Amino acid sequence: MTPMPDLPIIRIKNLVKRFDGKTVLDGITLDVYPGETMVVMGGSGCGKSTLLRHMIGTFQPDEGSIEMFGQDISRLDENGLNTVRKKFGILFQSGALFNSMTIAENVALPLLEHTDLAAEIIDIQVKIKLELVGLREHASKYPAQISGGMKKRAGLARALSLDPRILFYDEPSAGLDPVTSAEIDQLIVDLTKKLHVTSVVVTHEMDSAFTIADRMAMLDKGRMLRVDTRDAFDALRKTPRDQALAMPEEQQLIRQFLRGDHEGPITRRRAATNYAEDLLGGPIEDILQTPAIVSTRADGIM
Ligand SMILES: Nc1ncnc2c1ncn2[C@@H]1O[C@H](COP(=O)(O)OP(=O)(O)OP(=O)(O)O)[C@@H](O)[C@H]1O
Ligand SMILES: [Mg+2]
Repeated sequence: MTPMPDLPIIRIKNLVKRFDGKTVLDGITLDVYPGETMVVMGGSGCGKSTLLRHMIGTFQPDEGSIEMFGQDISRLDENGLNTVRKKFGILFQSGALFNSMTIAENVALPLLEHTDLAAEIIDIQVKIKLELVGLREHASKYPAQISGGMKKRAGLARALSLDPRILFYDEPSAGLDPVTSAEIDQLIVDLTKKLHVTSVVVTHEMDSAFTIADRMAMLDKGRMLRVDTRDAFDALRKTPRDQALAMPEEQQLIRQFLRGDHEGPITRRRAATNYAEDLLGGPIEDILQTPAIVSTRADGIM
């Protein structure tokens, strides 16, 4: 594991985000250190992408702060944000390539938009980035002509175009077959080593997570359950069932998620919620806010 210097490159403190009155992130605190790969994991809808979008400045927090390179990005104006954005690259879930442009043109785009480099220099830069992701021979193809795995590589080359210090990935292996997905994981590991970038990777694929992470953060329903080293999570994953049953519910829940077990606290919680909703005909949160028994008399005596 990378040794950790004192100052985090990303520092999130007590981040709260609500959408239409619903709390989606509930007091998230997370530090990411230079050179490490931090994997943010958690079930569908737990808030992973929302957390990532706060780090890239797309969303503003309702409470709390997000510091990057020592600056609170939630207080920056669009100009300030754009300066910070040049220091990081983003690989979106879909790859988000422009279909009307070749792979090379896609990779060149950020250089054309954000630098004054001469065309020949941009050309060389694009070739270097495409070589890094193993796509140099495919430079002149269009996105429609390449596979899903190659699209991810192209998206990654574009994310690398401005030599970022931080790389953000949202579900890098989503929609890929297991072998292609493992190849992308390996590419992420290689690039991190070669370029000394800091990476934040959102994923719910546990094989990926354990391959690429230095540290891992487990989100559940907008709360941060645990931030720890990969080895600590690996130990929890491998804890035998009889020992796990003696652990606090929260640790059992993380263990179930890491192992993908079909039985455990997540399943029990889901079953209880769905059953209650089915019986009572509405979301459990709404039902819990309504008193179960309402007095029909003014004095409240029943
Ligand atoms: N712009 C938005 N407006 C309203 N609600 C939103 C918005 N973005 C996200 N949400 C809600 O926030 C919650 C968390 O969503 P988010 O996309 O962060 O989850 P996720 O962990 O990335 O899930 P997945 O694994 O399915 O990608 C969901 O309930 C979602 O509906
Ligand atoms: Mg998501």
